[in-house]
Amino acid sequence: FQPVKIAPSILSANFMNLRADIAAIEEAGAGYVHVDVMDGHFVPNLTMGVPLLKQLSRATELPMDVHLMIANPLEQIPWFVDAGADSITVHAEALGVDELVRAVALIRESGCAPAVSVKPGTPVEALLPVLGEVDMVLVMSVEPGFSGQSYIAGSEGKVAQVVAASRALGVAPLIQVDGGIGPATAPLVAAAGADVLVCGNAVFAADDPGAALREVAAAADA
Ligand code: DX5
Ligand code: ZN
Repeated sequence: FQPVKIAPSILSANFMNLRADIAAIEEAGAGYVHVDVMDGHFVPNLTMGVPLLKQLSRATELPMDVHLMIANPLEQIPWFVDAGADSITVHAEALGVDELVRAVALIRESGCAPAVSVKPGTPVEALLPVLGEVDMVLVMSVEPGFSGQSYIAGSEGKVAQVVAASRALGVAPLIQVDGGIGPATAPLVAAAGADVLVCGNAVFAADDPGAALREVAAAADA
């Protein structure tokens, strides 16, 4: 049994005080820094990219977990590799099957951990072409685009489906869940088999981000 890891999403951090926010999550035992890259095309919102990742990755030893919500990941993967990504997640919806396979291989060849994600409305079958090749699967529990949304009820069922599909293939990628995760929802997804929980507002909207992180981790492992 491995304790669940928390990946705070920097999108919800205080950009005027990033160093203190990073220190707080380091100290509280975060497993990764989750970096939400949105391009205004694949999702309506526009967030952050290479320049911020470059500086963040130099500022902490925590691994950079880059979630690409962009329309052209194949073109941009090398940029994020160079900027210090440790894991890179691409969306199955952004790519045709051949491109998805190529993107995962490119991430692997670049020395990063490849991961694949599906939006809430996308069936687990969309993961199958790369399920045997990825180190992590990201199950979205909100529509990607914005932090601070409510967990879509029943998303833990998708986690269980990914666990079952992985077992059937004889592989065991980490399973990450992203969207509306906090002390109330962490136990549901952890019980279903989640290994990594992304937390935006649950951590960074709190007065004490470190204490909030510990609270989610404790709820997940209870
Ligand atoms: C949504 C992003 C999430 C989001 C999480 O598109 O992928 O990582 O920032 O924020 P919360 O935890 O507030 O839902
Ligand atoms: Zn994310």
